[in-house]
Amino acid sequence: MKQAEATVISNDEIMPGVYLIRLDCLPIAPPARPGQFVMVRCGEGAEYQLRRPLSIHQLDGNKLALLFNVVGRGTQWLSQCQASDKINLLGALGNGYTIHPDSKKLLLVAGGIGIAPLVFMANEAISKGKEVTLLLGAPAAGQLYPIRLLPAGVRLVTATEDGSTGEKGLITDILPGFTGGADQVFACGPVDMYRTMARMPELKDKPAQISLEMRMGCGLGVCYGCTVKTKKGLKQVCKDGPIFELEDVIWEELADI
Ligand SMILES: Cc1cc2nc3c(=O)[nH]c(=O)nc-3n(C[C@H](O)[C@H](O)[C@H](O)COP(=O)(O)OP(=O)(O)OC[C@H]3O[C@@H](n4cnc5c(N)ncnc54)[C@H](O)[C@@H]3O)c2cc1C
Ligand code: FES
Repeated sequence: MKQAEATVISNDEIMPGVYLIRLDCLPIAPPARPGQFVMVRCGEGAEYQLRRPLSIHQLDGNKLALLFNVVGRGTQWLSQCQASDKINLLGALGNGYTIHPDSKKLLLVAGGIGIAPLVFMANEAISKGKEVTLLLGAPAAGQLYPIRLLPAGVRLVTATEDGSTGEKGLITDILPGFTGGADQVFACGPVDMYRTMARMPELKDKPAQISLEMRMGCGLGVCYGCTVKTKKGLKQVCKDGPIFELEDVIWEELADI
């Protein structure tokens, strides 16, 4: 893990309120894994001391991309950054998803902005010769991650809540139909999506890893602000996670952010 000064290459609003920022920075060493994140300093004054955690969306040598939703002051600041601006970040942090060597068919489940770490994951899986199916959900067609940005070779299935494209409904409505052939499931989305997944009989004996989002203070295992209860004891999302086995988290005790 190290601190890096990154230079903005481009910053585009690719969906309403969602930005794709491409950065040039020193290669993250050791090489980052899908599911890991960076802590970004989103502003310059004392009020911006707390960095914001963002998943690594794409990584290619010196080039790093982040995908973020503008929800508050930090991400608003980041959305205003322009080419050649400098951004300070810390990373790569956290554990990352783990692909078992024997797994051949991987099922990726993205709820909304949850697509952020799963594009990196899909790239990695395809480069390892895995068969990748991606279930991608959004409220409506206009909020669906652009298909042209997905890695070639991914089998894509979409669902929108209003039915404007793909299947009509939540991504968890169609998920049971795709678990059968999958050796592993990798998900990123809101806590409610995970709670639904945790109750699904189709996922009962299926290895499923999820990326847990918590408010983070330090991102380094120092402040204990991100502690969650799991069946394996108290865990810090920033250090022991953010990737956990779906079955390990005690969902009833987890507060919504
Ligand atoms: C490991 C990890 C990876 C993440 N990856 C991404 C990503 O790739 N893309 C992305 O858009 N977001 C991601 N998030 C969420 C992101 O960190 C927050 O949206 C961001 O910190 C909000 O900062 P802000 O200053 O704009 O908003 P704030 O002013 O701090 O908060 C505004 C709103 O955002 C909510 N919020 C604040 N922090 C979080 C959080 N950590 N998780 C969820 N909601 C939060 C608050 O409840 C509030 O409603 C990730 C979070 C974690 C823990
Ligand atoms: S954010 Fe400080 S310990 Fe995890």
